Amino acid sequence: MAMSAEKLSPLPGTRPEGASDECEAAARVREMFGRIAPRYDFLNHFLSLSLDRMWRRRAARRLDHILRRREARVLDICCGTGDLAFALEAQRNHSLAPGRGAPIVPISIVGGDFAVPMLERARDKALAGGHATVFSAADAMQLPFADATFDLVATAFGFRNLANYEGGLREMARVLKPGGEAAILEFTEPGAGPLAGIFRFYFRHILPLLGGAISGNREAYRYLPNSVARFPSPPELAARMKSAGFRDVRMVVWNFGSVVLHTAVRS
Ligand SMILES: C[S@@+](CC[C@H](N)C(=O)[O-])C[C@H]1O[C@@H](n2cnc3c(N)ncnc32)[C@H](O)[C@@H]1O
Repeated sequence: MAMSAEKLSPLPGTRPEGASDECEAAARVREMFGRIAPRYDFLNHFLSLSLDRMWRRRAARRLDHILRRREARVLDICCGTGDLAFALEAQRNHSLAPGRGAPIVPISIVGGDFAVPMLERARDKALAGGHATVFSAADAMQLPFADATFDLVATAFGFRNLANYEGGLREMARVLKPGGEAAILEFTEPGAGPLAGIFRFYFRHILPLLGGAISGNREAYRYLPNSVARFPSPPELAARMKSAGFRDVRMVVWNFGSVVLHTAVRS
């Protein structure tokens, strides 16, 4: 579905409990993810019944046309423990495997995050799995890359955590080459219907209890549904992407409308 532009009011980013401004919000988010890093992967897969892996794989398949470009440069922002970057790498390797088209040519995939314990786990996983993706400390609000560096800037379940969504979109646009693409995979409030209602109840009431108990960090798993409730609706985010310098904004929804992939082309 392609979206049209509309008049937009200022939009704040995430605000975890007790954070009164952008600076405090970013500090709390970094600290929270740093603390849950050791249990993050286990809880992701456990609480989503491993559907999170499928959503990242689906997103990567939809980005195949960029991943198979010669010498494509790809950035995964808010990469956490690296699972989206690894899914992009796997998609690229699958598409360009011998017999499926072009020979394998260099691709550079970089994962960036501002929580060091998450990056450490990503690097351990890259080493253990023989991945080519490299990981680097990078604040999505101030990316340490030159203008027009990347063919693709993608993020999974990370964008919602930015302290300023408009600033985050502008930064994605800045580091993309003209004609490059942005992809934002994110949770959103589920749609109508009984199955969506069951999922909403699980997400708001059961998941915070389970996540809090297993991780030992109740705040982090209360934050998850609260941050989704505050996050712009899919059409609103699409409009923000347009005003940040993107065109051909498209979205696809999965899991009873609770997971959305936005893609857009840098003008
Ligand atoms: C829910 S995790 C998602 C991790 C991973 N992308 C995935 O698919 O599982 C959110 C990540 O965003 C990171 N993050 C939040 N704000 C950030 C920022 N301003 N710059 C860089 N990373 C940020 C956090 O440190 C955390 O690792």
